[in-house]
Formats: sequence, structure tokens, C-alpha cells
Amino acid sequence: MKWAGLLCLLDWIGNLYMTCHLHSQSIICITINYLAWRIIDEAMASSFFTFIPCVVRHFKTSFVIPSSLQTLASTGKRQHCIRMRRHLSSLTVENPHFKPLSVISSSSSGSIASKEDSIILGIETSCDDTAAAVVRGDGVILSQVVSSQADLLERYGGVDPKMAGEAHSLVIDQVVEQAIQNANLTENSLSAVSVTIGPGLSLCLRVGVRKARSVAGKFGLPIIGIHHMEAHALIARIFERDLHFPFLVLLVSGGHNLIIVARDLGHYIQLGTTIDDAIGEAYDKTARLLGLDLRNGGGPALEQLALEGDAYAIKFSIPMKQYKDCNFSYAGLKTQTKKAIEKMNVNIDNCPISQADSKERKSRADIAASFQRVAVLHLEDRVERAIEWTMDIEPSIKHLVISGGVASNQYVRERLDLIANKKHLQLICPPPSLCTDNGVMVAWTGIEHFCLGRFEPPPPANEPEDYMLDLRPRWPLGEEYIRGRSDAPSLKRARVHPSLTSIIQASSQH
Ligand code: KG4
Ligand code: ZN
Repeated sequence: MKWAGLLCLLDWIGNLYMTCHLHSQSIICITINYLAWRIIDEAMASSFFTFIPCVVRHFKTSFVIPSSLQTLASTGKRQHCIRMRRHLSSLTVENPHFKPLSVISSSSSGSIASKEDSIILGIETSCDDTAAAVVRGDGVILSQVVSSQADLLERYGGVDPKMAGEAHSLVIDQVVEQAIQNANLTENSLSAVSVTIGPGLSLCLRVGVRKARSVAGKFGLPIIGIHHMEAHALIARIFERDLHFPFLVLLVSGGHNLIIVARDLGHYIQLGTTIDDAIGEAYDKTARLLGLDLRNGGGPALEQLALEGDAYAIKFSIPMKQYKDCNFSYAGLKTQTKKAIEKMNVNIDNCPISQADSKERKSRADIAASFQRVAVLHLEDRVERAIEWTMDIEPSIKHLVISGGVASNQYVRERLDLIANKKHLQLICPPPSLCTDNGVMVAWTGIEHFCLGRFEPPPPANEPEDYMLDLRPRWPLGEEYIRGRSDAPSLKRARVHPSLTSIIQASSQH
């Protein structure tokens, strides 16, 4: 038993040296812990738990959770693994200097690749779309493939993480293969692979990350971990070549409502976020309550029906008017809409919109239009204030970008265009197919970082299935602007990972 343990240990140390560049002190600590685990007993291993984090903190060192820790789970020491993982993830929150190896790495030598020549495969699986695309550094989209889970959404009324993860697994190989084929390339022509690592649903993110690592490992390609919301913001730069930093961005999607100042690549200031639900979620929920056909998404269905309604028919109140900040809240509006629908006294389950008579259809259209007017008024109110705040932070800004799924809504675009004009800014909206989740935005953001030398070296070919992936389900994009802190009670305070901006700034100071 002891010899077997020792062999495992040697193998493990070898792996560790091959795959990461740990401080020798950390290696010794982890080794002691592992030894205790495998060979001595669990009780003794526990006592090292408090020891390792202290040393890691002391040396502020890079650190990778080795795959062997996961393997331990299958050897009956599951509880230990879970505790160890919790310890490690708490470290990343507490210590701003703690930088896991698998974050985007920054090269001090500046630009390392000619932007025009690079060709990147981007993979996106953070929510309910399996997407891949191949994009060239000069902005040419060589291919774009999206497989949506609309049928699952329709059936379950929302995204079920487990089912969404399984649905991604079923199609990911085909989607990536198709993207490469449509680009008329082979993997050997790629410069790198970029993939969304957060924020999003872990069970979904892992499918894309695993696929990206397997392609990158097999063909010796560098890999770039992408922030989903940064990708939504930066996609505007692929077709608007005059969009230089700094600019203001409103990101409106199913899971996020963000207003940020994009000061530079990887440097964002968050002026506001949602304290509960995102606008896309409110659109989806309302569409469902109104009995709309969700096969093409709740948002588009509601936008369509709203065209037939009177936007002033129902008096919904605008959220958070009393808070003079840039934060959002859609939970209250969702409840107001639900009450209005209940008042109509219609059993939506037995009467989908396709079967509603004209009177019934008009009542639902009035609710849809009234909901949309107020939901967007809330955006307008916040964006107007955000522009004023941005004039203090970056007085030179010229552009307001809107992106994310809800930015494909025509009414949203028109209303925000009026605000932008009033404030002498130019509104930039990506085409609708690039507002919703797609692989192009991930590939393009990969190109932007890759050209500055921010990437990881190729993962080993044949990486073990149980390799502990770096996924960041809750990952803020930027640092909070001090005036942007909401006085309203928030349901979403938990931060699990340091923001992208703080990681990039810390790495560029080294
Ligand atoms: O960015 P996205 O594709 O995925 C997330 O990152 O969440 O955004 C999806 C959201 C969904 O809530 C969808 O209903 C909404 O965007 N959406 C729309 C429209 N198209 C998509 N909402 C309103 N009007 C639209 N036309
Ligand atoms: Zn999105």
C-alpha cells in the first residue's frame, strides 16, 4: 500500500512540474499534504489544511489545483477533496494577489502576434447556446455556428443547468467541427483557441472549456479564457473599426444588466448592475405568463406582440426611481406584470396566444407593450445618469455601445438612440445575430487579448478527463465605481472570483 502510494506521489509531482510552475515551497506543502492523505491517515491530513493556505498566502504564489485531488474523490476521500477545494476557492476571494495559473497570462514583451494574421477558434457554452466561430484578426468572420436549446426552453420554461449541460455535450463536437469546416481550414491553421470560462452555468461552461482544451492540446495551440460579458462588449469593435477606448457600454442579456466604462482592453469600471433580475429574464418570464410561443425566445416574441398593443394601457411603475444611481431591478416589474395578467382572469395554460380571440389578444398585447415601455424606461433613466457620471471619469468618450441579447430589440435600440443623441454620443449596436450569444464574440475577444500576449500555453495532449478546470460561474467584469454602490438591498452580493480587471491589472504590475 505504501509503495503504491509512493509511486502515485512521484507521478503526481512529475505531473505538477510538467503542467504548472509552482513555487517550490508550495510544492513541498502540497506534497506533505498529499503524503498525509494517501499514506498516513485522514486525521493527520486535516491538520495540514490550515498550514497550506498560510504558506500560499505568504508567498503570494501561483497555484493550480492538481487533477490528482479530483482523483482522490474516487478513492473514498471525497469529503477531504471537497474541503480542500473550498479552502482553495476561498483563498482566491480573500487574497487579491492570489492568481491561479490558468487565468489569462500577460506577456511583458507587449504585442506578440500580428493581429491581422491571427486566426482564432472561439467556443461559447455559458448558457443555452452552443456556439463556435472562426475569426481572423482583420475582423473577417470565417465561420459561425450556433445550436440553440430553444426547444428545451419551451419545454421547461427556463434553463435547467443539468439538461443544458447535457444538451451542450450532445452537439459540441459537431458545432466545433462545422465551424472549422465552414471556415475551409484545418486546426493546424489556427493561431489559438478561445473559450468562455465565466460567468455562466458551471455545468455548461465545462463542456466548452473541455472541448477547447482538447482541441488546443491535440494541435499544440495556445488557449485564451474569455469573460462572457467582455465578449459581448468588445464584439462592437469587430465591425466599428473607429470604436476606440474609452467608451460606455450597456450590457443587457438574460442573466446580466451592466453599465460599464470600457477604459481599455481588460480595464472596466462598473457603474451599475442589477440588484435582482436582469431585463432579459423579465422579458422571458412575462412572455411565458402571456402564453407566447417561446421557440424563438421569449424576448423576440414579446417584442413582436408589443407592436400590437397600447404601451400606456397599464400603469406600471418605473423601478428604483428613488435611487439616484445606475443600478437596475426587474423583480418588482415582473411581479407587477404577473398581477396584471392574473387580473385578466385567463387560464394561459389552456389558451396559448395562437388560440386567443382578438379581444383577448389585444389585452395581452397591451400588457406586453406596457411592460416593454417601462422596462426600457428603466434602462433609459440609468443610461442617462451613467453618461453624466462617465463625463467625470472619461470626458473624451464619444460612443455608447449596447450589446447582449436584449440589445437586438428594435424598441430598445430606438429609445437608447434618442438618449445617445441628446447627450451627443454615437450609439453602436452590433447586428442582432451578434448581440445574442455567439462564438464570434469569443473568438474576437480572444484575438484582442492574444495580440497583447495574454494567453496560456497549450494544454497537454490527452489531458485527463478529471482535470480540474478553471471555471468562473460568478465573475465580475470590472471594479465597482464608488458612486455606483446601490443603497437598495441586493439579492446578488456574493462574489466568488476577483474581477477580470483586477486580475489583468495585478498581472501587468508584475
Ligand atoms: O446574451 P444572450 O443571448 O444570453 C445571455 O447571456 O443571457 O441573451 C438572451 C436574452 C434572453 O433573455 C432573450 O429573451 C433576450 O436576450 N432577447 C430579447 C430579444 N432577443 C433576445 N429580449 C427582448 N427583445 C429581443 N428581441
Ligand atoms: Zn450572453
